Amino acid sequence: MAQTHFGFSSVDEADKARRVRGVFDSVAPRYDLMNDLMSFGLHRLWKAYAVAVADVRPGERVLDLAAGTGDLTRAFARKAGASGLVVHTDINEAMLRAGRDRLLDEGLVLPTVACDAEQLPFATGSFDLVSVAFGLRNMTDKARALAEMARVLRPQGRALVLEFSKVAEPLAKPYDWYSFHVLPRLGALVAGDAASYRYLAESIRMHPSQRELEAMMRSAGFGHVDVHNLTAGVVALHVGIKC
Ligand SMILES: C[S@@+](CC[C@H](N)C(=O)[O-])C[C@H]1O[C@@H](n2cnc3c(N)ncnc32)[C@H](O)[C@@H]1O
Repeated sequence: MAQTHFGFSSVDEADKARRVRGVFDSVAPRYDLMNDLMSFGLHRLWKAYAVAVADVRPGERVLDLAAGTGDLTRAFARKAGASGLVVHTDINEAMLRAGRDRLLDEGLVLPTVACDAEQLPFATGSFDLVSVAFGLRNMTDKARALAEMARVLRPQGRALVLEFSKVAEPLAKPYDWYSFHVLPRLGALVAGDAASYRYLAESIRMHPSQRELEAMMRSAGFGHVDVHNLTAGVVALHVGIKC
C-alpha cells in the first residue's frame, strides 16, 4: 500500500485519515481556545486578512472546506448576505458540530455538510469562491483536494488556501523551539493532549513550501496564483484563479 506522512511518521495512505480524525475528535472541544493561546490571537488577524483578500460580494456562492469551528464561514456569510450561499463543510463530525453550534448561536443558519475535500459532493462550476484554512496540511492527497477545489469553481472563480508555511530563516530556530517544546506542553495543559499538538508542529514541517504549493495549485488548474506571506512566512495565503 502507498505510504504518506502523518507528521514525521510514515503511514499507509489508508491510515492517515483515521489518525487525523483522531486528532480532531480529541481537540474539538478546546479547539478555539487553543488557537488563541497557541498563536497569541494571531490566527484572528491571519483569517481577517484572508477575508479581506477574498472580497466576497453580496449574492456570491462560497464553499468553506475543512471549516471546523467556522471562523471563515461566519465572516463570509456576513459578506455574502441573504442573497448569497455559504456552505460550511468538514470531514470531522465533532468539529462540524462545534462549528454549526457557534454559527447558530450567532444567528447564522447555513448549510453544514460532512464531506471529504478530496471527493466533493458538489457539481462542477458551482461556486464563486472556495476556501480552506489550516486544513490542506491534514489531507492525504493534497493534489486531489486542490483539483477538486478547481473543479467546483466557476471559470475565473477564486480559491483561497490559508496554511502554515515555511518561516523566514532568522526565525526558524526560535520557531522550532516554540513548536516542539511549548506547543505540546500547552496542548497537554489545556486540552489534555500533547500528541495532537506535536502532530501539529510536525505536520507544519512536512507541508509544501510557499513555492511548492504555488506550483501544485498551478498544476491543479489555477492559471494565476498569488502568494501572500504573513508573519514572516509562519502562514501563507495562496490565492488561485481558475483560468
Ligand atoms: C486545523 S482545523 C481548521 C479549522 C478551520 N478551518 C480554522 O481555520 O480554524 C483542520 C480541519 O481540517 C479538517 N480536515 C482534515 N482532513 C480533511 C478532509 N480530507 N476533508 C475535509 N476536512 C478535513 C479537520 O477535520 C479539521 O476540522
